Amino acid sequence: RFGLKTKFLGQSIHYEESVESTQKIAHRLAYDQAAEGTVVVAEEQVAGRGRMDRVWHSPKYTGVWMSIILRPNIPIPKAPQLTLLAAVAVVQAIEEVTTVTPQIKWPNDILINGKKVTGILTELQAEADRINSVIIGIGINVNQQMEDYPEELRTIATSLSIESGKRINRADLIRSAFNRLEHLYELYLEKGFLPIKLLWESYAISIGKMITARTLSGSIRGRALGITEDGVLKIEDTEGIVHQVYSADIELE
Ligand code: BTN
Repeated sequence: RFGLKTKFLGQSIHYEESVESTQKIAHRLAYDQAAEGTVVVAEEQVAGRGRMDRVWHSPKYTGVWMSIILRPNIPIPKAPQLTLLAAVAVVQAIEEVTTVTPQIKWPNDILINGKKVTGILTELQAEADRINSVIIGIGINVNQQMEDYPEELRTIATSLSIESGKRINRADLIRSAFNRLEHLYELYLEKGFLPIKLLWESYAISIGKMITARTLSGSIRGRALGITEDGVLKIEDTEGIVHQVYSADIELE
């Protein structure tokens, strides 16, 4: 299918013109036993979702809005590793089809020149303490121009086209992302998280820097030390206490 080299990732594609959210469709497919590697791609989302209940702006024909179903046999606390793995795959795909150099902001934002070009939202379906499926939602801003963005997003969001000065072929980008993601996923299942962690850290911007992490229970300011084996962020605060942060918004100083 369009020159895809994968064994399973993207071998079943549900292509939709307009949806509320590809996550919602992928959840239903996963519940109905869809095969591992099944993908939902839409031209537009009218109710795209971001992390922390935020809205994900997903206008028609300009971006890549997709959700991927994986069925790894891993314990639930390891699921965040897959978010980091997906971020590495998307960074590599962006590097393959453009001339720009993206960076990752923990856990899953991909930035170019400090502005967000991609968000990743990982959700689980689990039974008891077993993962039934992991739904990885990936939103990549591809061919938007600055005037396409609402005013409030212009200082924080960008697109591959704005940053590279070219139109980007979305099919090329999707194909590359599938190839990279499958490769990294197989590496992960075979060798564990360490090789992924090293790649992730090589693209990360926040490591070693002073950051403020805003969590639901308050803010922590300190130096980002790195990530744990489970993909959790370690921050050393100004008193030398090391915190492990599972979910937060990060602000760089
Ligand atoms: C974030 O940065 O907050 C995550 C954004 C995730 C957006 C993608 S687009 C495809 C999939 N469907 C959704 O509704 N959200 C994810």
